[in-house]
Amino acid sequence: MTTHAQITGIGSYLPQRVLTNAELETLVDTSDEWILSRTGIRERRIVAEGQATSDLATAALSTAIASAGIGPGDIDLLVVGTSSPDMIFPSTACIVQDLLGLACPAYDVNAACSGFIYALHAGVTAIESGRAKRAAIVGADALTRHIDFTDRTTCVLFGDGAGAVILEAGENAGVLGVALGADGSGGDLLKVQAGGSAHPMTHEALDTRKNFVTMNGNEVFRFAVKAIPRATMEALEASGLTVADLDWLVPHQANQRIIQTVEQRLGIPHDRVFSHVDRVGNTSAGSIPLALDDLYTSGRLSPGNLVALVGFGAGLTWGAAVIRWTMARPIKEA
Ligand code: ACO
Repeated sequence: MTTHAQITGIGSYLPQRVLTNAELETLVDTSDEWILSRTGIRERRIVAEGQATSDLATAALSTAIASAGIGPGDIDLLVVGTSSPDMIFPSTACIVQDLLGLACPAYDVNAACSGFIYALHAGVTAIESGRAKRAAIVGADALTRHIDFTDRTTCVLFGDGAGAVILEAGENAGVLGVALGADGSGGDLLKVQAGGSAHPMTHEALDTRKNFVTMNGNEVFRFAVKAIPRATMEALEASGLTVADLDWLVPHQANQRIIQTVEQRLGIPHDRVFSHVDRVGNTSAGSIPLALDDLYTSGRLSPGNLVALVGFGAGLTWGAAVIRWTMARPIKEA
């Protein structure tokens, strides 16, 4: 009998500190009107002093573990998608493993904003091959740690956050199909140059601001509106489904104009495309599981629903997963 991977638990975490467009107006030459019309973002959350990516990941994963009705000892694989790890090593996954008391292999995957889909692919592959029974998959980033708050072209876009799911082996199909892609020739379009082996964190690197995110926004936009429909179609094809079968599309929350363009290109009705980019901005690898958790906890996902998750990011990377939702609707508190 074929073993499938199902999502049996979900959780997310946003830091408390809200950074509004009005506050950004005091930092750089920008306006609420510009940010809203070009990106759809009103506010984002940012990490507190002393808070690291592992803290966001740990909070999201502990909620996901509780929602699956299991304990940390039941998990036999932990994969964290992140491009803003706590440090070069140990991996953020190992830090989270220790904080939550897990006893399983743990590793990070760096595919920037596609990190959650890449991590999900690793978990699904491990479960379908019989190498794992319960995998914890996390997408977490504190990318504002690498943002230049004097650069108006990037500082208005990003926020921090994390989301996590528990994947379990089962007989019924949950994750139906996953499609991944990468094109390293586009690496220069979006990068943080310093801090690695090519450009160690020297005084010179800091003076030339190589420690911050740089981006060719127009080119990344053009890439995104092609990559998202293509990845979605590939994952649908792998699942034997079409766009018309989807109850929800949950795209990476980078920019409302990208989401709108993708809606049109895929021909999917607006009310089936989830967006909360206005409240969170681009949380990188945290984005897709945060959005999925918001969709779930707000009671808009029912068992049997077909959901496509799709991301794109630095690398360049992209990926999509088609899921038949199997978790019962959340119990509303009185
Ligand atoms: N406030 C005011 N003006 C601004 C701002 C700002 N925050 N940022 C740029 N501008 C100016 C520019 O300087 C330019 O001025 P100019 O015409 O005098 O030169 C003008 O606005 C237009 O700039 P564009 O870059 O053409 O604006 P555009 O409409 O393309 O929007 C944006 C820029 C929002 C960055 C868009 O290109 C975009 O969303 N790209 C995709 C970004 C993205 O999704 N990145 C995440 C990838 S995922 C990952 O892996 C991290």
